[in-house]
Amino acid sequence: MFLVTGATGQIGRRVVRLLRERDMPVRAFVRLNSRYGELEQRGAEVFIGDLREDKDIQKACQGVRYVISAHSSDGGSEEALHYRANVELIDQAKKNGVEHFVFISVLGAGRGYEDSATFKAKREVEKYLTSSDLNYTILRPAGLSSNLLPLAERFRDTGIYLIIGDSKNRTSIVSTDDLAQIAVDSTSVEGAKNQTLPVGGPHILKREDIPGIFSRIFNQDPIIINLPLLLFDGFRSGLGLVDSEAQRSFGTLRVLLANEFFCTSDEISRLESIYNLKMESLESFVQRYLAS
Ligand SMILES: NC(=O)c1ccc[n+]([C@@H]2O[C@H](COP(=O)([O-])OP(=O)(O)OC[C@H]3O[C@@H](n4cnc5c(N)ncnc54)[C@H](OP(=O)(O)O)[C@@H]3O)[C@@H](O)[C@H]2O)c1
Repeated sequence: MFLVTGATGQIGRRVVRLLRERDMPVRAFVRLNSRYGELEQRGAEVFIGDLREDKDIQKACQGVRYVISAHSSDGGSEEALHYRANVELIDQAKKNGVEHFVFISVLGAGRGYEDSATFKAKREVEKYLTSSDLNYTILRPAGLSSNLLPLAERFRDTGIYLIIGDSKNRTSIVSTDDLAQIAVDSTSVEGAKNQTLPVGGPHILKREDIPGIFSRIFNQDPIIINLPLLLFDGFRSGLGLVDSEAQRSFGTLRVLLANEFFCTSDEISRLESIYNLKMESLESFVQRYLAS
């Protein structure tokens, strides 16, 4: 039995689909108010709970052989979901003799970004998992291609593309479908055992390259609006005067806007060789989902 957390999310729902296509038994951890109809139709066992509750995690882990942790936080306390829920999942995985634990971390988790509770939590969970005696795979993805689908739709309708911060910053947007496949295969591929792997797409893109890609797909001239990071910082400082918690919660976005998140070509070659796949480009992903 596979336990998948974040089973209704961008990565999690693709993981569940793939496992069901392979006829594997899946327990999908969802909240009562989540949109989980599709998972049920695909034959997943739906477990209703809340990852903030240890007792729900304890129940969900019973009889489980593999765990794929792919949940995120929904804007509340990032520590509770990104740190504490994962530590409880790891403890329960050990207790239940789980054979392999896959953790979706984030590219840059090891860089010590103090402004982001999420990055800090990811790093601490990575440390906890690697010293847990469980078999594990830690995946550190760059930005997901599925995040860009709403931006591509807006571009298709208006030609507008907004960049905040340095438009030359580099990124290796990863196909969310490839990442889901890598997460699933990590439980069986020997080369993935006890590895921490950066995961990115095949190309290193500057942020300003993305509207160029959309432009080719939709045959539409781009209108790029590039706002300086200072504007974002000014907004955040202003927010801090009235709501310090909200100001803090923008820390992860600040880190994402201000830094580069890309994989080297050697890292991508290694990934492709471990998992025996060819990573999909952003252009191909957006074409598959949006080009008619
Ligand atoms: N998005 C990216 O570009 C990116 C890049 C690198 C790494 N990652 C990491 O990848 C992981 C998955 O990201 P994603 O973008 O696929 O996530 P997502 O689409 O935002 O989905 C988040 C999932 O977590 C679930 N969740 C939130 N709070 C919960 C709670 N209290 N109890 C149970 N489930 C809860 C949500 O359930 P509901 O349906 O009920 O809301 C949803 O299924 C995250 O750990 C993220 O840090 C993401």
